Amino acid sequence: MSHDVKNIAITGGAGQIGYQLAFRVASGQVYGPKQKIRLHLLEITPALSALEGVKMELDDCAFPLLEDIVTTDNPDVAFTNADCAFLVGARPRSAGMERKDLLLANAEIFSVQGKSINANAKKEIKVLVVGNPANTNALIARENAPDINPRNFTAMTRLDHNRAVSQIAHRMGSHSSDIKQLIIWGNHSATQYPDIRFCQNKGKTVINDIDHDWYIKNFIPTVQQRGAAIIKARGASSAASAASAAIDHMHDWINGTEEKNWTSMGVMSDGSYGIEEGVVFSFPVTCKNGEYHIIQDLEIDAFSQEMIHATNKELREEREGVASLL
Ligand code: NAD
Ligand code: LMR
Repeated sequence: MSHDVKNIAITGGAGQIGYQLAFRVASGQVYGPKQKIRLHLLEITPALSALEGVKMELDDCAFPLLEDIVTTDNPDVAFTNADCAFLVGARPRSAGMERKDLLLANAEIFSVQGKSINANAKKEIKVLVVGNPANTNALIARENAPDINPRNFTAMTRLDHNRAVSQIAHRMGSHSSDIKQLIIWGNHSATQYPDIRFCQNKGKTVINDIDHDWYIKNFIPTVQQRGAAIIKARGASSAASAASAAIDHMHDWINGTEEKNWTSMGVMSDGSYGIEEGVVFSFPVTCKNGEYHIIQDLEIDAFSQEMIHATNKELREEREGVASLL
């Protein structure tokens, strides 16, 4: 790892997720224990005072790796020379809403930020979109950044992935670290397909040990609806677990996935598994040397085909809904 200072942009720095994420990034959990970093925290103007409080607390941690903290309401300042960006700042949903109901409220944010990233960030920037609906917001950002490789824009389905791993670990009486090769296909929404056909517990395939009825009627809806269940319980959407998943996503993209495992990332579709170009779709991926690679040639049975088709259809409809911003 190089010893120059990495510039890490976080939007929505004073929000719920931002308040968790900034501290974990500043402690070195993305680039590792030797890499000095500079935080660029972006907020809207009315939240600048709260953001100043976040900066004061970051200062008070005396993090050894944290060289500097820039706070701003100007995206062009936040994305200047950024090596990576967490696009978190956006409205969260409340009870009774689907994430795609946020599209009109949030879409404009990602077109402005895509343009600003294009003009100001390093060309090799890695972008993770967390703000909902994350897949389509990532699409908007990347369509507005024509000079940056579209591969550099990703959306977060790692929270769904981690949720699914945990559910399987509980069911199997195992630890989450024993569960490998799970997949989240498609959209970070209620149409996502959590697929355990290749999933392993301590190196052994789990599918034959899992009750099929539980898998279809309990596991899949639980993972699909977990965000709504958290909102119901907390009165606010997931924050610490979302920040944790964002760290996992960026950490693995930069440092690589573990041996004999893969993860799920929302990435631009390239025709793999019949998903034509034009949407940001969650696939099983491995990461190495700062690049992700979609796992190829997994068998897709009729049930999986139906599930993948449904989530792809929803993403294409979301795309239609924001056509003016693409
Ligand atoms: P929050 O309301 O607590 O914080 C959002 C922050 O973003 C606020 O401080 C707000 O001022 C700021 N903001 C709004 N517009 C901005 C802009 N243009 N530039 C910079 N900052 C801006 O919300 P939260 O709980 O932190 O959630 C943030 C987003 O993340 C929501 O859209 C939520 O639905 C989404 N989310 C996604 C996942 C996922 O798995 N992909 C998980 C959890 C939450
Ligand atoms: C989640 O999955 O927890 C987030 O996307 C928040 C939400 O709206 O469900």
